[in-house]
Amino acid sequence: MHTSLGLNLFVEINFHLNIDSNLINIPTYTQGVREMIEWNEKYSVGISMIDEEHKKFIDIINKAIVTKEHNDNPEEIREVLHEMIKYALNHFATEEINMIKFNFPEYQSHRNEHLDFTDKTVAIINKVIKGDNIVANQILEYLKQWLVNHIQGTDRKYIDCFIKNGLK
Ligand SMILES: [Fe+2]
Ligand SMILES: [Fe+2]
Repeated sequence: MHTSLGLNLFVEINFHLNIDSNLINIPTYTQGVREMIEWNEKYSVGISMIDEEHKKFIDIINKAIVTKEHNDNPEEIREVLHEMIKYALNHFATEEINMIKFNFPEYQSHRNEHLDFTDKTVAIINKVIKGDNIVANQILEYLKQWLVNHIQGTDRKYIDCFIKNGLK
């Protein structure tokens, strides 16, 4: 069990980002969250390192969906969400470090999308930590939609720049 580790991470993230969850507009979704995301070649950005990270990101979101649907143990859902945000932060760092290295012109707006995702996700997870189970459904739908949209939209914009600079 890594609960205390996970909670420490969240305290740390909250401290650094200074998040007030009441100020964050959390999207609401009414549909269910039973459907997992399936990797599809159309999600590929053609850079294996990034594709592998996106696959792992999808795996963790699917793990959260399965946990919610088949177990619904808030403690376990929190654990998976901690794992997800930790992974998200590492993945965003991979992309942003390369954007800086290659002088990618849209670095700032891309980073802002990552920050917005992190802010919203941490705010929602904090509500789950406080025992709001309905929010657990919202976060899963939000994660799915955000990730698929981001991979297929914003992440595609750096493909030419990254490949031109030797990533494959
Ligand atoms: Fe990204
Ligand atoms: Fe990405």
